[in-house]
Amino acid sequence: MADEKTTVEAARKAFDHDFEKFKDLSLNGSSPSDIESTLRELGEIKVRHTGKKSALAQSKKLIGKVAQEERGAFGQLVQSIERSIVERIETVESSLNESLSKAKTEAERLDVTIPGRRPRTGHLHPITILRQEIEDIFVSMGYAIEDDREIETDHYNFDALNIPEGHPARHTQDTFYTTDGFALRSQTSTVQIRAMERRGVPIRIIAPGKVFRRDTPDMTHVPMFHQIEGLCVDKGITMAHLKGTVTEWLKRLFGEDTVTRFRPSYFPFTEPSAEFDFSCFKCHGTGQFEGDRCRPCKGSGWIELGGSGMVHPNVLRGCGVDPQVYSGFAFGFGLERMAALMFNIDDIRHMFENDVRFLEQFR
Ligand code: DAH
Repeated sequence: MADEKTTVEAARKAFDHDFEKFKDLSLNGSSPSDIESTLRELGEIKVRHTGKKSALAQSKKLIGKVAQEERGAFGQLVQSIERSIVERIETVESSLNESLSKAKTEAERLDVTIPGRRPRTGHLHPITILRQEIEDIFVSMGYAIEDDREIETDHYNFDALNIPEGHPARHTQDTFYTTDGFALRSQTSTVQIRAMERRGVPIRIIAPGKVFRRDTPDMTHVPMFHQIEGLCVDKGITMAHLKGTVTEWLKRLFGEDTVTRFRPSYFPFTEPSAEFDFSCFKCHGTGQFEGDRCRPCKGSGWIELGGSGMVHPNVLRGCGVDPQVYSGFAFGFGLERMAALMFNIDDIRHMFENDVRFLEQFR
């Protein structure tokens, strides 16, 4: 039986050799994947030393071949070696599994005291901020907000607004046309017509929106900008209502001490017509700010804002409104230059470049 004994001793030695590295395993601080790979290695050793093709399995087969009187002793030897191999593997396996579950718990642990990452939130564009402030003022004065199309027929962009053929605004240099001959509206005044047709009179509306003009971009021009149109038609409306309304919303926006100024002008859709200015919000009309020439009003004390007037009888008639019974005022102004003055923006093109470094100032 000496040979058989040698075989089984060799099996044990081979196992001892392979198992060496698992003897003083230090798993402190190991990651779950480190431990998993150690477990896989151990699994391979288990198969190699206890599996069907292992030296140990080979030894078991020899038990029957050993001489009868020695068989018992040899059988016990093989069994004790087998038990010792299996036990050692199991001990390491269970300690590995325990470490694995600890390491997993550790890896998934949440430190609820770490400060959170703030989500990046969006915010309103300066033009939207100003538009909403003005909308709120007009809503509080009983006006409705009208929204309408940006692509118009010549009828709404010009004819209905009493803009005669041959007026320079009709020239393609000022207005963008689609290939189908539609105009991109060059003023929100188009909504006066749309709103009167839709709602009839009496009417009190403002219409904020985009307008388009064939302008070359520079510090004070962009081919798309925003206007707000106002329209009030009722019985007995006079120029005094126009002045009172325009003055009132500017006071609410810039402060009680704001005053307005109306200068005679010409617009095809109003008669009489006037351009209106308001006293500078920075120097309060003095033209001086902290000893220097005031910037927004360039030292004049006045800021020019928009156009206005009494709605032309032709415009009312075109909308089926009898100018003998009804009268009304209208006004319109742009938002970009106003916002640029208020927010101290030197170039209105900044407002459309979508550079967050610029936009984030208005958070
Ligand atoms: N639509 C004019 C413009 O774009 C502004 C304007 C002037 C609007 C007089 C009006 C008005 O409603 O009555 O320059």
